[in-house]
Amino acid sequence: MAFDIDMIKKVYAQMGNKVDKARTILGKPLTLTEKILYAHLAEEAQEAFKRGESYVNFNPDRVAMQDATAQMALLQFMQAGKDKAAVPSTVHADHLIQAKVEAEKDLANAKVTNKEVYDFLSSVTNRYGIGFWKPGAGIIHQVVLENYAFPGGMMIGTDSHTVNAGGLGMVAIGVGGADAVDVMAGMPWELKFPKLIGIKLTGKLNGWAAPKDIILKVAGILTVKGGTGCIVEYFGEGAESLSCTGKGTICNMGAEIGATTSTFGYDASMERYLRATKRDDVADAANQVKDLLTADAEVYAAPEKYFDQVIEINLDELEPHLNGPFTPDKATPISKMKEEAEKNGWPLKVEVGLIGSCTNSSYEDISKAASVADDAVKKGLKAKAEFSITPGSEQVRYTIDRDGMVDTFKKIDGVVFANACGPCIGMWARMGAEKQEKNTIVHSFNRNFAKRADGNPNTYAFVGSPELVTALAIAGDLGFNPITDTLTNANGEDVKLDAPTGNELPPKGFDVEDPGYQAPAKDGSDVEVIVSPDSDRLQLLSPFAEWNGENIMGAKLLIKAEGKCTTDHISMAGPWLKYRGHLDNISNNMLIGAVNKFNGETNKVKSQLSGEYGEVPATQRAYKEAGIPTIVVGDHNYGEGSSREHAAMEPRHLGVRAVLVKSFARIHETNLKKQGMLGLTFANEADYDKIQEDDTFNFLDLKDFAPGKPLTIEVVHADGSKDEIVANHTYNNQQIEWFKNGSALNLIKKQNA
Ligand code: F3S
Repeated sequence: MAFDIDMIKKVYAQMGNKVDKARTILGKPLTLTEKILYAHLAEEAQEAFKRGESYVNFNPDRVAMQDATAQMALLQFMQAGKDKAAVPSTVHADHLIQAKVEAEKDLANAKVTNKEVYDFLSSVTNRYGIGFWKPGAGIIHQVVLENYAFPGGMMIGTDSHTVNAGGLGMVAIGVGGADAVDVMAGMPWELKFPKLIGIKLTGKLNGWAAPKDIILKVAGILTVKGGTGCIVEYFGEGAESLSCTGKGTICNMGAEIGATTSTFGYDASMERYLRATKRDDVADAANQVKDLLTADAEVYAAPEKYFDQVIEINLDELEPHLNGPFTPDKATPISKMKEEAEKNGWPLKVEVGLIGSCTNSSYEDISKAASVADDAVKKGLKAKAEFSITPGSEQVRYTIDRDGMVDTFKKIDGVVFANACGPCIGMWARMGAEKQEKNTIVHSFNRNFAKRADGNPNTYAFVGSPELVTALAIAGDLGFNPITDTLTNANGEDVKLDAPTGNELPPKGFDVEDPGYQAPAKDGSDVEVIVSPDSDRLQLLSPFAEWNGENIMGAKLLIKAEGKCTTDHISMAGPWLKYRGHLDNISNNMLIGAVNKFNGETNKVKSQLSGEYGEVPATQRAYKEAGIPTIVVGDHNYGEGSSREHAAMEPRHLGVRAVLVKSFARIHETNLKKQGMLGLTFANEADYDKIQEDDTFNFLDLKDFAPGKPLTIEVVHADGSKDEIVANHTYNNQQIEWFKNGSALNLIKKQNA
């Protein structure tokens, strides 16, 4: 489990020169983001990269993978012909544990249900020199923050909330499994050089306002698209006043504004956190290069000159927020919630409050929530709603248990779930959810798309800080404002909850008996990787076919998706998670959540073969069988949400050739490219309206596929009339090679041969 201090020292030793060189090339003071990025270039920079334009190769320091995405990543890595992961890498068994009864029982159950996956992950990591955090050890991002994140480092992870590590001053980016394969195979990793958003925090949080409220406010300002292609850098006295884990929460939900990642400069809170998590040598090393781990002073003095966009938030005035329902950017200050809920018909009765998750399960979060619960008990209150706690790691769980907080939560009938994702990713066996009743829940997680937590499309989920969620669970009322309102206790008295109090770090230190870590074999070449040939959850991969060099002609429209089409709509999570390692089986969820523009329904599209309406995967399989290529058309920000490359692999596997949309979410666009798909955007957005249900598509100039050169698509309508559409793309030369070779992996294999 030991973090790699030698690797960290090496990064720091080289950083000074690289940063100096970058400063000379750019001819200006540097932001922190620029320092970290320029210090991790795969090739020396000759000139300044253009933000939002240049594609740049980086050498990240680490890779982290969660169990759902690791399966496919490692199945792919096995194909790359390597003996060991080229950089320190870890796998975390957190996504497959269903929350049903309570931690112990649920964990025991998961170990039986997921045995073949855990056996595969345990053996494949052992084989290839990768650390394995066993089921129950904790949620990837919390475990990474506690053990591996370090100021100034660069990491990629196969999960969108990898960005959480920005709380410890990293540039940590969520990617698809195929990118992880690149880095583990020793290849550079490519990213479009991001634009930079600076967020200046002034003042200091007080009362009920929490770090979570900062990002909820930012999400309200920037919306789910506002951070696309950008790295967000927080600074100012307000930033320094936050705990390291609070910074982690803010960076975590940077994924909800579409940001590439977010980060904070190294400061005293990070040093305290490093020392509390027994990493004195990292803190000592960081202290020696402090100047490299924060922006140059001139940058924060005149941020407008150095960032593409600057936002200022005064923490003195920040109100607690609840964001939702159904989207994390719908921000409502708590004082306006009652009015908003009544106006919009959101159910006011809170049925369940859930705290924890990778976003909000630090010692500080839990201690603040526990202080609210404790205050409520002392004032004769019980929780009106159900209440659950999902600790982020065994270390946090053990420590909060030792410090009496679990007992406090039990007094309000709180249930502690396993240290795992659980309800946050739909792994929640919520009683009665199948009735699909309209209801409200509040949670301290990060996402609240329809069906995400419990599979019920009528669950209105609102995101708030753990302490506010606890208060709302006690009140059982979405409109309750703990700052101004009172509650009636068992004796009929009106009582007011005190503002939460807590500890940034455990006063008695962190403690844990068994953190749940398995170190890999020193030499794993004899280790057998366990994949059962008749498994319905794991399937060894075969390479995708290379492009035949011809224009794609006669492609049919599979679906024209309308409105939001997230990776959850393209490759639904919940019950499907169990097929993450079996491409053919999981492909049966392809696009079943996307809304068909022509009938407003999900999973019901017209087949041009039969003229009948059918389910999307079945319809596509019939096209594949008939050897007919297809295309998917979509709206704005197509593929927002998670990093899962299944959302790109499934259409690829089933024979979809192109995805043509108004705009893409970054990770999904890259994932499509990696899998050898065509990811295209309408040059003229209005052309989306020209696409009809029975259309056929001819790619007229695919043979001339080249960087910066749009493609021309002839759209033939059912009545024989035609439209010519121009499709833009962002493929560079290397990505065009991926397309030509059938996938990025095919190219890696060729290069390794
Ligand atoms: Fe897990 Fe939810 Fe985080 S799914 S990794 S707890 S966003």
